[in-house]
Amino acid sequence: MPATVVVGTQWGDEGKGRLTDLLAKEMHLVVRYQGGHNAGHTIVVDGERFALQLIPSGVLYGHITPVIGNGVVVDPAVLLAEVDALEEKGIDCSRLRVSGNAHLVMPYHQELDRVTERYLGKNRLGTTRRGIGPAYADKAARVGLRVQDLLDPKIFREKLDVVLKEKNAVLAKVYNRLPLSPEEIARRYLDEYAPRVAPMIADTVGLVHEALAAGHHVLLEGAQATFLDLDHGTYPFVTSSNPVAGGACTGAGLGPRDIDRVIGVAKAYLTRVGSGPFPTELFDERGEALVERGQEHGTNTGRRRRPGWFDAVMMRHAVRLNSLSEIFLTKLDVLDTFDTVKVCVAYEAGGVRYENLPYHQSVLHDARPVYEELPGWNTDLSLATSVSDLPQTARRYVEFIAAQSGVPVRLVSVGPSRGQFVHVGA
Ligand code: IMP
Repeated sequence: MPATVVVGTQWGDEGKGRLTDLLAKEMHLVVRYQGGHNAGHTIVVDGERFALQLIPSGVLYGHITPVIGNGVVVDPAVLLAEVDALEEKGIDCSRLRVSGNAHLVMPYHQELDRVTERYLGKNRLGTTRRGIGPAYADKAARVGLRVQDLLDPKIFREKLDVVLKEKNAVLAKVYNRLPLSPEEIARRYLDEYAPRVAPMIADTVGLVHEALAAGHHVLLEGAQATFLDLDHGTYPFVTSSNPVAGGACTGAGLGPRDIDRVIGVAKAYLTRVGSGPFPTELFDERGEALVERGQEHGTNTGRRRRPGWFDAVMMRHAVRLNSLSEIFLTKLDVLDTFDTVKVCVAYEAGGVRYENLPYHQSVLHDARPVYEELPGWNTDLSLATSVSDLPQTARRYVEFIAAQSGVPVRLVSVGPSRGQFVHVGA
């Protein structure tokens, strides 16, 4: 049975956890394939909000095995705090499995993320300061510690001693910070975390393939999104992993032929947290209305998200990068009060019209959006349960986005609760 990927098509916060939750009934395994606790999924179940950073949202279902894949970077303190918070609410986390090959986020990663952002000043990336970039940098430099190292204190200490010498030198000599103690880190990771994490550590590649061979549905859940991708996003204002659908292969340990469905989650408008180019950004009262109506403050860091109109140029690029089979359009109801709504269909820069995303970032910085203005609906969509409940103008907006993207919109959300969505088309 092939697998399904859920991927964000914009700059994150599109509502991916929501879709995972909707698909959960038919899933057996839900696998996170990249990122770390820089992510934040909010799910509302029976009026209760669950904010998850590391644990896949499938944990809320008793029949699902939630898996943290090898492509994820794991801060065990955050993982365990999340397990405790969920169990306090009566949610059983005993099925959770973590790849032994996933890398550990260490205290020096967080410290380096914080000091380098401060050091960069106005050129800072606007990271979540969770240590994600430094952890992936160490993975690529082959000096990272992995989850499986928690099972082998001797190896853990040896690796830690080597890497911490270098990190402490950088922290002291470049950033004028106090050195971190290897004994204190080893105590926390080996004595406090390891005994609790050990039962979760598993051969997650084996789990995925056994599930597929048994004909079970596997959902591969991306964090962040296409335009935060290290290779394809607006570099350097990106995260340090590959959220695009291809990242699911490396981050969970399967091949492209195992995947037959890629669902792109897109907000009906745009938001972005942190720095970087954003051609359709709004600085006026309409932007304020999007932030206010859409409650656009980070689940994770509380930062205000930058708002803007839907960008079909980016969406077409996301379709290419992820080979999307369909779109889940979220938060359509946030546009309920607008007289007209705009969609960016092309860019203009230096007298040239761009229908496709310009590869050169300077062009993107200078790009002026070319808009198509559509009539708004001025109707409360929150009670819509079928496509016939949507006013003609709202349907036209959805159809316009599908036509511009070249991929069908299959599902539209009209509110934050579980039942507030509408199936569109076949
Ligand atoms: P990092 O992932 O913490 O290194 O941050 C790099 C960039 O990705 C920053 O612009 C962050 O704001 C952004 N980012 C990271 N995680 C998320 C997310 O879950 N949603 C939205 N933006 C994110």
